[in-house]
Amino acid sequence: METKTIEFLGDFYNGSFQRAKNPDDTWQISSPSDKKDTVICPEASFQHIEEAVASARRAFPSWAHLGLEKRKEYFQRLIEIYQKYENEMAETIARETGKPLWEAQTEAKALSGKINVTINHSLKRVSEEKVPDALPGVDGYVRYKPRGVMAVLGPFNFPAHLPNGHIVPALLTGNTVVFKPSDKTAAVGQLMAKMFAEAEFPEGVFNLVQGRGETGKRLVASHQVDGILFTGSYEVGLKIKQETLTHYWKILALEMGGKNSAIVWEDADLEKAVYENIVGAYLTSGQRCSATSKIILHKSIADTFLENFYETAKKLTIGHWKENAFMGALVSADSVDNYLRFQEIAKREGAECIMRGKALDLSPSGNYVTPSIYKIKEFDPKSVYQQTEIFGPSVSIYTVNDLETAFAIANGSSYGLVHSVFTKDRSIYEKALLDIRVGLVNWNRTTNGASSKLPFGGMKKSGNDRPSADFAVYYCTVPVASLEDLNPFSKEKMFPGISYQFHQK
Ligand code: SIN
Repeated sequence: METKTIEFLGDFYNGSFQRAKNPDDTWQISSPSDKKDTVICPEASFQHIEEAVASARRAFPSWAHLGLEKRKEYFQRLIEIYQKYENEMAETIARETGKPLWEAQTEAKALSGKINVTINHSLKRVSEEKVPDALPGVDGYVRYKPRGVMAVLGPFNFPAHLPNGHIVPALLTGNTVVFKPSDKTAAVGQLMAKMFAEAEFPEGVFNLVQGRGETGKRLVASHQVDGILFTGSYEVGLKIKQETLTHYWKILALEMGGKNSAIVWEDADLEKAVYENIVGAYLTSGQRCSATSKIILHKSIADTFLENFYETAKKLTIGHWKENAFMGALVSADSVDNYLRFQEIAKREGAECIMRGKALDLSPSGNYVTPSIYKIKEFDPKSVYQQTEIFGPSVSIYTVNDLETAFAIANGSSYGLVHSVFTKDRSIYEKALLDIRVGLVNWNRTTNGASSKLPFGGMKKSGNDRPSADFAVYYCTVPVASLEDLNPFSKEKMFPGISYQFHQK
């Protein structure tokens, strides 16, 4: 596999890549797996932001009027292009994020899958609905129309799959898009734009701007943007909300963080529960908003669970993206520092260290860390370790005697994304469905690895009640209500007090 520095092509709008003469910002992306491997050297131009938005605005009316069936034809071509570039995409994702190639391959494959799911599954949600006799003698219709220009701001952990999960439904429903990838994954963003260019979408339908915080800020503030579809941290999501408080016309779909829990009950299939929770806590090195952060064990199975969990976690392989280990590197040196800081915080707060997370010195040198496990004597809602989303491979273990305490720990978080419950008892699962304040509740399955055929979004600090995945088609559209009255005028239906005589000239 060749790993030479990828040529930076610029931003993509008006149907072509545009490089700034005098960029406002430049930076360098090194592979988290090998600090000496320079992936790409991106640039940002603030002037390009409004140009990209204007390009999307100009393309909007004809794309919206083209109709769904014609838009689908472009997507059939895009499926072929996505599949053609699957290997290149997987390698670019792995190299730029540090996630192992096997995992990046599942992400690259999901791109074309998302198009099929949206066409065959999600679009039904926004198909025309006739409401006979919506008013006496008059039929009503609900029809969904596109909103306009959607700004899509992507995260680093799934640099292709998660933005694609906004872009595909936005475009299929007739919107145009300006995509800003994470500044940590500019090469993946550039490859997305190359694929749209090769699929020959009409000029301005898909646009790309590269940049760091200031670019994101300017893009969301643009008055020509009608919607902001964001996946990332709570802190950035909150800033977007603040920046656009008076922009009444913009829809915000904010997918933010998580501090997810799993309850493993006394009757659970423990062999399965250990495996699923290893995956929940450590897949993508814990860098998923859906990662399992708290495992709540019934006292009777706690020792067996913990022994098996520890023995498995200890042996997880960690390595360069090409090595196909279970865990790759963390995305940045800052993430390593942050992860190590939380080891200190856990210790300071009195958590019992079962396995301490350390920086791992591999060759070539990258942002590698080992997984960690902390046993918590008593849940503390004020604990920094127990409350903060760490975005690294760390999990806390609680032992309880009763479900009430287990549910209180699960709900004792400002986030509310996913919860898992491991039990054979359906009534416990049903209680979790109602009582645990999250958007996703899984039964005998890990918290991560969501389905595109289901809604994805959380409560509290995890989201703003605009679930994505299968439900993205809702926030991409405006429901239009119509009363269609094809009856001739009838004097009998006139309100009292109107004396009306029509005169034909
Ligand atoms: C994420 O949004 O961070 C991951 C979602 C998933 O695990 O499928």
